[in-house]
Amino acid sequence: MQHSETYKQKLRSPADAVREVRDGDFIVVPTGVGEPPHLLAALSEQRRDFRDVKVGQILAMRKYAYIDPDTVDHVRHVAYFYGGATRAGGQAGWIDFIPNYFSEIPAKIERGLMPADVVFSMASPMDEEGYFSLSLGTDYTMAAVSRARAVVLEVNPNVPFALGNCKVHVSQVAALVESEEPVLEVGLPKIGIVQEAIGKYVADMIDDGSTLQIGYGGIPDAVVMQLTGKHDLGIHTEMIGEGILTLIESGAVTNKRKNYLPGKMVATFALGSSKLYRFMHRNPMLEMHPVSYTNDPFLAGQNDNLVAINATLQIDLLGQCGSESLGSSPFSGTGGQSDFVRAANRSRGGKAFIVLPSTAKGDSISRIVPVLGPGTHVSTSKNDVNYVVTEYGVAQLRGKSAKQRARELIGIAHPAFRAELTEQAKRINLL
Ligand code: COA
Repeated sequence: MQHSETYKQKLRSPADAVREVRDGDFIVVPTGVGEPPHLLAALSEQRRDFRDVKVGQILAMRKYAYIDPDTVDHVRHVAYFYGGATRAGGQAGWIDFIPNYFSEIPAKIERGLMPADVVFSMASPMDEEGYFSLSLGTDYTMAAVSRARAVVLEVNPNVPFALGNCKVHVSQVAALVESEEPVLEVGLPKIGIVQEAIGKYVADMIDDGSTLQIGYGGIPDAVVMQLTGKHDLGIHTEMIGEGILTLIESGAVTNKRKNYLPGKMVATFALGSSKLYRFMHRNPMLEMHPVSYTNDPFLAGQNDNLVAINATLQIDLLGQCGSESLGSSPFSGTGGQSDFVRAANRSRGGKAFIVLPSTAKGDSISRIVPVLGPGTHVSTSKNDVNYVVTEYGVAQLRGKSAKQRARELIGIAHPAFRAELTEQAKRINLL
C-alpha cells in the first residue's frame, strides 16, 4: 500500500486517537515542545474516563487540565524533570518523580525498568518514504517508540524534518492527528549583570576549537553570548536553543575540530524560536539523536576540549551540587548535568563548569553553603565536580583536598558571607 494511503487510514480526531490509551497505561511524552498539545488537551478532556493512567515527561511546557490534583487517580503526571507546569504539584506530592541521568532513560525503557505503553509526540510531516521526524524531542522517545503498544503522532507542518536517528515510519504508528499552529517558542532567559560576569569568566577559559555542551538556565546562555568572537567551535549537546543559534549565526561554529562526528553538531531536543525550528529543517550540519547517544559520557568525551556548562542552585564546601532541589523541595531534575560533567572530565583538555550566582533572594542567602540542607538532591557529586564559577571568580576543585576546596569556594562566595562561611567550615573541621 502507498504510504499516503496508510497515512489516511490512520488519521483520526484527537478525541478518537486518545482511545488508543487503556486503563493502567503509561504514556511517554517527549521533552519540552515535543509535547503534542492537541492530544494532551484531548486526554485532559477525557481524563475522568480513564483509571490509573500515567504521563511521563521531562519538562512539561503547558499546564494541561489533566495536571490536576483532583483527578490523579484517573491520569497522573510523572516528571522525569520538573518545570514551571509541574513544580508545584511535585512539591505538594501529587505529581510523581522518577530520578534519572538523562542519558540512561532510553536503556531503562528498553529494559522494561521504566514503562512505555503508549507514545504521544509531535512529529514533522511524513516524507515520501513514509517517515516522520521526531526532531523536537528525540531524547527517550525513540526508545519508547520501540517498546510501546501504540504510537500516536501529532503531525504539524511547523515541526522541522531534522536528520539523524530521529525517524519513525508510518507503519510503526497506531494513529495520527494533524495540527497547524506554530510550535511553542522559548526565548533566551533573562541575562543580568551577575550572569554576564559569570559568563565572562567562563568564556575567557574556552579555547578556539572547543566542543560545547550548553545546559539549561540563564548563565549557560550568558556564556554562549560571549563566545561569538571564537573560532572553530563544535557543538555536542543535549539541548539546541536560541543561544546556540546565535553562536552559529556569528560564524564561530564550524564543528571541524570535533573528533566525534566532525563537521556535524548533535543534540537530542530543541527549545527555541520558530527561526531555530526552521534552521533545523533538513540541515545537513545538524543531527538529532536519542539521548543515550548525545549524553553518553564515553561518546561525548571522545571530543577533545569538551566544555560542559551547567547551572546549580547551591553547592556545599566539598563541591556537592544541589542543582535540582531546595532541601527536600524539588525544583527541576538532574537532566544531562552529570552526564556532561563526566563527559568533560573524560575528554582530553575538557572542562566541566558548574555556574551559579553567589547569592539568592536579593543577596540575603549564600548559595555556597557549609553543608547542603536536609533532603537536598545532589546532582553532581564531589567526585565529579571541577570548575565552579560565580560572579566573584573561578574555583578549581578536581584533585583538591576537602580543605583546599573549602578555601577555593569561600574565595568565590559573596564577600558578605565569607567570614561566616569560614567560621562554619572551622566548626565542621573543614578548616
Ligand atoms: N535558596 C533559595 N532560593 C534559591 C536558591 C537558594 N539557595 N537558589 C536559587 N534559588 C531561587 C532563585 O532565586 C530563583 O528564584 P526566582 O525565579 O524567584 O528568582 C530560582 O531559585 C531559580 O534559580 P536560578 O539560578 O535563576 O535558576 P536557573 O533558571 O538558572 O535554573 C536550573 C537553574 C534549574 C536549570 C539548574 O539548577 C538545574 O536544574 N540544573 C540541573 C539540570 C541541568 O543542569 N541540566 C543541564 C542540561 S539541560
